[in-house]
Amino acid sequence: MTKEIDTGVFLPVGRHGWVHSVNAPAAEDASYARVLRVVQAAESIGFDFVLSPSIWRGRKGPSQHWGDVLESLTTSAALLQATAQIKVYSTAHMTVFPPATIAKMVATMDQIAPGRAGLNVVTGPSYLDLAHIGLWNDDLAHDERYDMGDEWISVVKRLWTEEVVDHKGRFFETLEGTMGPKPAVMPRLINAGASPRGFRFAAENCDVAFISAGDDPAAIETARRGKEIARDLGRDGFATYGVVSLIPAATDEEADARLDHFNAGVDLECLDDIEAGYSQNRNRAALSDASTSLSGGVERSCVLPGTMVGSYETLARRLATAITEGDLDGLMVMVPDYVEDLDGLARHTFPLLPDLGIHHRVAVQPG
Ligand SMILES: Cc1cc2nc3c(=O)[nH]c(=O)nc-3n(C[C@H](O)[C@H](O)[C@H](O)COP(=O)(O)O)c2cc1C
Repeated sequence: MTKEIDTGVFLPVGRHGWVHSVNAPAAEDASYARVLRVVQAAESIGFDFVLSPSIWRGRKGPSQHWGDVLESLTTSAALLQATAQIKVYSTAHMTVFPPATIAKMVATMDQIAPGRAGLNVVTGPSYLDLAHIGLWNDDLAHDERYDMGDEWISVVKRLWTEEVVDHKGRFFETLEGTMGPKPAVMPRLINAGASPRGFRFAAENCDVAFISAGDDPAAIETARRGKEIARDLGRDGFATYGVVSLIPAATDEEADARLDHFNAGVDLECLDDIEAGYSQNRNRAALSDASTSLSGGVERSCVLPGTMVGSYETLARRLATAITEGDLDGLMVMVPDYVEDLDGLARHTFPLLPDLGIHHRVAVQPG
């Protein structure tokens, strides 16, 4: 079976990206200058999109993980202006912003770069991330946050497409609401809900769902099941993109040594702080295991569960299995050093994928 996939980069808008270690590459300092360089590099080697997450708090601990973090929507607007082809997906917490504010901002981004703005909508699984600056809504249980999301997204879509919007719902109200300009192209809507309720929200309301990419039977089964749920809902055009953290090197041994070096500086205080972010959520019982999967807090490792570590060739083989077996339509990567590692993957891993049945647009330009 051959597959044509979209490829993307999960941007390091927070210091040290997703490596929780004092030995994480210092280059990922979460400055706008660095993120811009990463995005320009990603664009020049043919990645289709970048996604900037929405993060509101740094972690405790000596590595000062996410101690500095760029706001997602303003960063994305600037990145759209600074690029020519790559799609830029921003992230908004539906529990923080009223729908009209985000509808307006994303419609404006569509003016900056027609057809290239997209939106990742999240409910926000971490209490600590939002509560410290008064952004946590404690009235809503986990699944209710997605009920609110259903209504939120419906108001956004109506403001993007209808001349006058009268809406009176459980959470939001508009009174002869108007909004112009309308986006020329409907912005792509994305969600990464990992719980059954979260995935249903994505399949019913969005164009793309992010799913942890893996080549183990459980990850493959989850990915395939996601596709089936969307199909059962009649969403044939719905896409599933795998998201994966990679630690590449020339050889398997060198890749293992990189991980060992990062783990020698693992920031345990940071991992405890991440875990506290979830456990202080009084609706924790409703959180799926996957809710914490981006945190690294589940294992005492400085990298995320499911991180693929290996030579460029090993990674090509493992990624091809994850994509083919999981029936994924796209792949979004995280790496320790976003300029060096993306370049390495583009030179040595992506060129191997077509022979493994995976077609994509990543290619290093000669010269
Ligand atoms: C690729 C990806 C991007 C995400 N981006 C954010 C984000 O920017 N902000 C955030 O609070 N949560 C983010 N999340 C968390 C998810 O939106 C979701 O809450 C989490 O996967 C748990 O699923 P659940 O909400 O269905 O329990 C992200 C998750 C993934 C896999």
